[in-house]
Amino acid sequence: MVKNNLKVTSKFYVTTPIYYANDIPHIGHAYTTLAADVLARWHKQKGEDVWFLTGTDEHGKKIAEAAEKVGESPKQFVDGLIPKFKDAWKKLNIDYNRFIRTTDKDHEKIVKDILQKVYDKGDIYLGDYEGLYCTGCEAYYTEKDLEDGCCPIHKKKVEVLKESTYFFRLSKYQKKLLDLYKKGFILPQFREKDIINRVKEGLNDFSISRTSFDWGIPLPFDKKHVCYVWFDALYNYYSGSGKDKKYWPADVHLIGKEIIWFHTVYWPAMLMSAGIELPKNVFAHGFWTFDSQKISKSVGKIINVDELIALTGNVDSVRYFLMRHIPFGDDGDFSEQALIDRHNNELANKLGNLVSRVSGMIEKNGISKTDVKLLKKLNEKKIEKLMGSYEFDKALNEIFAFVDVCNEYVQSKKPWETKDKKVLFELKESILKIADLLLPFIPESAEKIKKTFSAKKIVKGDVLFRKIENSLVDGLKDGIKNSELVKGTKKGL
Ligand code: MSP
Repeated sequence: MVKNNLKVTSKFYVTTPIYYANDIPHIGHAYTTLAADVLARWHKQKGEDVWFLTGTDEHGKKIAEAAEKVGESPKQFVDGLIPKFKDAWKKLNIDYNRFIRTTDKDHEKIVKDILQKVYDKGDIYLGDYEGLYCTGCEAYYTEKDLEDGCCPIHKKKVEVLKESTYFFRLSKYQKKLLDLYKKGFILPQFREKDIINRVKEGLNDFSISRTSFDWGIPLPFDKKHVCYVWFDALYNYYSGSGKDKKYWPADVHLIGKEIIWFHTVYWPAMLMSAGIELPKNVFAHGFWTFDSQKISKSVGKIINVDELIALTGNVDSVRYFLMRHIPFGDDGDFSEQALIDRHNNELANKLGNLVSRVSGMIEKNGISKTDVKLLKKLNEKKIEKLMGSYEFDKALNEIFAFVDVCNEYVQSKKPWETKDKKVLFELKESILKIADLLLPFIPESAEKIKKTFSAKKIVKGDVLFRKIENSLVDGLKDGIKNSELVKGTKKGL
């Protein structure tokens, strides 16, 4: 018998929501995508076989209407936006494996096959629907959900829609869903209770087809209807799971809290009906506000990816800030000043100075191998645990506590006076460890640090994070305030 020597690596599959291709991405979209990138990079570093999926949601009434407004066909319209998404992710150093579009042929085929399967099974039936519809959300509301007759999210009047429609038998899955939640499907745990209570109140079957417009996937058993955008979109996670669905089931779907119902109620029930294995977790993070205002195209303020990066001129500062400033899961407020403060104090002063001082001293004095006792002060197990529970802010805090320890070590050992090569060796090894731990968060800077300290002949590294002076901060803030993007007006694409 031939022995199989293949190394077994565990897989890790992470997704972001697929964003509506009706505008350029802003800080909110960047946030989830960045968190997914950090997780993907973290698991890759552990030697796992990682698949990271992101993409765009391109069908439905919202996109059709946006395209009509600018006099384009829906396909032309979304095609024009895709480069903007890809460009934004490139600028933020997002290393995804596939960018899925719901207009991709392989996705459309899977949705059709599944629709047929679920229909044959009897979980889809024809009926009439009359309801209050918000196109912004692509969802029906009940009277009690509304605020002054308006959608609670978009603050716009809802429309009364009546149509003959196919329904999905969601009600049938109540018990199975409640059993699923007992296994800890919903993260963070504090979000679970609300979903459980609402599911316990009873589930209505939901409408999965539309006849009032045709921008969608036609139902294979009734071509007059197109598939409801959410039924189509959720399946991206399955259809984009790699060749032969190699990476399915997903380990975690990262989403914003406003779409938790679709992901923890509709989605698992749709999979149960189709006989497909369920994802392991859905993690719903909180919402950013911008200078305490809602981030939104219609109401409030917006900051897009280019503006975000321009504030410090450093992508890694943005990546660091978004992961460090608020606990993943909680809501939080973005301000230019907070970003610049963290850039200056944590990245430039603490990390940047450590790296440049130590590399400079090594250039002058050299190193001598020794036991690295300093590393004992680093709590790697704790960091590993925090990453496993999506506590990115705390993991970074822990890594930076060790950066502090290293800076204090420099101060107390004074290698610039003693020229102690052993102390410098300890610092070099510790900094290399810090770079490894920070790599998922600030990949470009971490690579630079690694390059500096793994060179045969170490020389003083370039400045990693240039400090931003206050006068410049004011200028940048003015720039943002005057920009088209924060006036709450519709932007050019
Ligand atoms: N197309 C649907 C998702 C379908 S997934 C099968 C959709 N798209 S969206 O363009 O509206 O993007 C919503 C997502 O953007 C949120 O779930 C969240 O990931 C991100 N955010 C949008 N605004 C945000 C904030 N203000 N703060 C944090 N994240 C936010 O919904």
